[in-house]
Amino acid sequence: MIPAIRGTRDILPGEVERWAFVEATARRVFEQYGYAEIRTPIIEREELFAKGTGETTDIVQKEMYAFTDKGGERITLRPEATPSLVRAFVEHSLEQAMAVPKIYTFGPMFRYERPQKGRYRQFHQVDVEVFGIKDPTIDAEVIDLAWTLIKSLGIDGVELAINSVGCPVCRPRFAAALVAALGEDVQKLCGDCQRRSTTNPLRIFDCKVPVDQPIIDGLPHTVDYLCDECRTHFDAVRKYLDVNGIPYRVSHRLVRGLDYYTKTTFEVLAGQIGAQNAVLGGGRYDGLVKELGGPDRVGIGFAAGVERLVLALPEQLAVPAARPDVFVAALGDPARDAAFELLRDLRRAGLNAQIEYEGRSLKSQMKRADRLKAPLVFLLGDNELARGEVSVKHMATSTQETIARAAAVEFAVGLSRRPQALQP
Ligand code: HAM
Repeated sequence: MIPAIRGTRDILPGEVERWAFVEATARRVFEQYGYAEIRTPIIEREELFAKGTGETTDIVQKEMYAFTDKGGERITLRPEATPSLVRAFVEHSLEQAMAVPKIYTFGPMFRYERPQKGRYRQFHQVDVEVFGIKDPTIDAEVIDLAWTLIKSLGIDGVELAINSVGCPVCRPRFAAALVAALGEDVQKLCGDCQRRSTTNPLRIFDCKVPVDQPIIDGLPHTVDYLCDECRTHFDAVRKYLDVNGIPYRVSHRLVRGLDYYTKTTFEVLAGQIGAQNAVLGGGRYDGLVKELGGPDRVGIGFAAGVERLVLALPEQLAVPAARPDVFVAALGDPARDAAFELLRDLRRAGLNAQIEYEGRSLKSQMKRADRLKAPLVFLLGDNELARGEVSVKHMATSTQETIARAAAVEFAVGLSRRPQALQP
């Protein structure tokens, strides 16, 4: 046996229905808010993420699946979708092509992290991005969209955290204040934090090392150092969230682990799914499009982890697997041929019809029908063939009756829940 790669998972029948439910719900909600689907490649040039996600992030420093291909090019399996969608926005001038560039995508992402419940090396995101709108109403819309997605999935016990990380004007002032406030205490922090204090001091807020926490809790807050523009923007986002009735908490430690964020950041946390409890995260990235060679356009978006959404779905949300409307059983070779014809006619009428391929005993055929939970069995034997009839067994009541073969399809359609015919 050659097992699957560590940190990757097969999504099996039985679970996949919950995935399909999440994807269908996301698609419905996104389209309702005017977002259009886009699909981009899973492989991209390494520099897209080095520049886009950011050189100082854990993702780029430790977690990228990057390799040299046979043509000598440096390739990366995308660790997130945002830089890819920015690239596509610029490369295809979506600004001209779309009335409003609001887009979404689904798909696998790859990060070489330590696998645990809710954290995988191949995981999946639903991702939303909007380009070119500076007004804080769009921040509120994107957060509202994220919240509506969670609520439409029936996920409860979640908390929305928001923050503002400022902009290139006010952030350096804040970073300096942070380092100054740390003073000598920087020596007491973990090695990672000591490194962060020189490369990207805000990242200290991401630290999970328990002994560091009392020091980090005493550090200044970004929101107290915002420039006028960032402060006005943040106040407006909060006002619009209040108007929309979306409950949130301002979290001073929410700086997010990616380099491109400016102004608004947000996350949705689900209490009940374990240590990896961020089901969704996002924010504004006003410099990224330009940084990646595009026009000077702002952007904002979020991504939700599909594995974590599926984990957080209500337990009782049992999405039923598809089951047959009718099972066709046959006794003897001539009847078997007639049974395959009946099967074909039932399927052409749009029904889910199943058969026992190996042509075993009637008893084992009935067992199969039972396992498949077919409500109806059509039985064909020599007698039925001779009379142009079909015997019908209603599985719930174990009652039997006989109908004309010519009326069999209509009979099954009448009893089925999904009577619409397939297109030829
Ligand atoms: P992120 O916070 O890195 O943001 O990831 C977003 C979500 O993806 C997380 O909240 C989590 O649910 C899920 N996720 C991340 N890593 C893993 C993993 N190893 N296993 C399972 N789930 C995971 C971004 O990726 C940004 N691109 C979001 C964004 C879009 N910001 C603006 N636009």
